[in-house]
Amino acid sequence: SSSLDVDVSKIPVGGEIRVLIGGKPFFIRRRTEAEIAAANAVNFDRLPDPETDDARLRPRRDGTLNPAILITSGVCTHLGCVPVGPNQGAVGDYGGWYCPCHGSHYDISGRIRKGPAPLNLPVPDYVYLTDDLVTIS
Ligand code: FES
Repeated sequence: SSSLDVDVSKIPVGGEIRVLIGGKPFFIRRRTEAEIAAANAVNFDRLPDPETDDARLRPRRDGTLNPAILITSGVCTHLGCVPVGPNQGAVGDYGGWYCPCHGSHYDISGRIRKGPAPLNLPVPDYVYLTDDLVTIS
């Protein structure tokens, strides 16, 4: 299996980078304070795939979460298209990602909110080597 080290400090606030690991796409988003607040303001237990925003984050080495950085799979859980996001100028109705194949909308935590996709964008295995450097596998 492959892995990749990413310096998340290089991602602009409110922006995203996309990487391929073993041929599969992943999204790394650096969220604004307003986006973090929006991710936490959701009544998560009423979502199609209920998860808190915190449950979608992995801890830094000191055990704390870094809510600015969200890392997800870049594969739509419907039929596997790659959703568009801020780099493509379309974030969907919930501020995260939009899958143009059949119209799935993901929120700023990568949770499915509307459309045919059944599940949230999966969170890959990743670890913080430092506060800035993350190994995704
Ligand atoms: Fe994304 Fe169908 S593959 S909505």
